[in-house]
Amino acid sequence: MNSVGVIGAGQMGAGIAQVSAQAGYTVFLADISIDFAEKGKAGIAKLLDRAVAKEKISQADRDAALERIQPVADYAPMAEAGLIIEAATENEAIKRKIFENAGAVLAAEAVLASNTSSIPITRLAQASPDPARFIGVHFFNPVPVMGLIEVIRGLATSDDTVAKVQAYGEKLGKRIVQANDAPGFIVNRVLMPMLNEACFALGEGVATIPDIDAACQLGLNHPMGPLTLADFIGLDTCLAITRVLFEGTGDPKFRPAPLLVKHVEAGWLGKKTGRGFYDWTGAEPVPTR
Ligand code: 3HC
Repeated sequence: MNSVGVIGAGQMGAGIAQVSAQAGYTVFLADISIDFAEKGKAGIAKLLDRAVAKEKISQADRDAALERIQPVADYAPMAEAGLIIEAATENEAIKRKIFENAGAVLAAEAVLASNTSSIPITRLAQASPDPARFIGVHFFNPVPVMGLIEVIRGLATSDDTVAKVQAYGEKLGKRIVQANDAPGFIVNRVLMPMLNEACFALGEGVATIPDIDAACQLGLNHPMGPLTLADFIGLDTCLAITRVLFEGTGDPKFRPAPLLVKHVEAGWLGKKTGRGFYDWTGAEPVPTR
């Protein structure tokens, strides 16, 4: 396998394209338009420039990696890819449409994968041409920094498909963990209840935003406090995954915190909208309550 298709040139897709190109794969990068794909590549160039400035990579490696990323206007060039990874927005209808279109160009032995953080793989596989060659590959944000890929097999995923994705992930230098197709897989099954509980604690007045974050950051040695991390992931994403856990298990322990729901209803989605639990518009994040 020499080339990879990546569909979605946002934060996750661009990250996947970057690490794939740095590992030596040719990458076909698509989004809803060639402009978005080009924009994704421009963002990667900036990150690679920063890595050169910090002497983490050489100028030659930066140039070679960028050269390997080809923004594309449609999926046709992905017919030569051994693996196509969808990293579009977490909306099932949009993903299904992508699988239909990408499935139309998917090579005979190639694998179609989704970076979904919580939609069941077995269900998504139904929109692909061959569920045996469909799999979940869940990367973590920021992709170039985070050392993990969760590989999720659907009911029909073949051993050969798992082996191909495992080899790809290892070439990227990531640790691969395998999860079955259960709500939230591994990481979000464990993470989202913690973030949700921090929202309950805040809503119940247990402590302030900075104190909840400092308590977990310094008391548990986490790189970020839970409310900062929730803002960083996006509160809409956190709520959507929590709802998948709640609805997928039927267990009331996963019910979304009312304050999290309110923030999403207010459009305060975190860093991406400039306001979540913190105001992100200035030089430093400022707690909003
Ligand atoms: N893209 C690429 N590189 C980035 C980056 C980004 N967006 N943000 C930071 N980095 C790099 C920096 O360049 C720096 O690299 P260097 O060590 O080579 O110089 C390194 O990361 C550390 O960055 P900083 O010194 O600026 O900042 P921190 O030390 O505070 O680290 C962090 C930032 C890596 C984001 C750290 O705070 C962290 O690990 N936070 C937790 C992240 C996390 O939990 N992610 C998982 C979210 S859950 C998820 O993705 C699943 C989904 O389904 C919800």
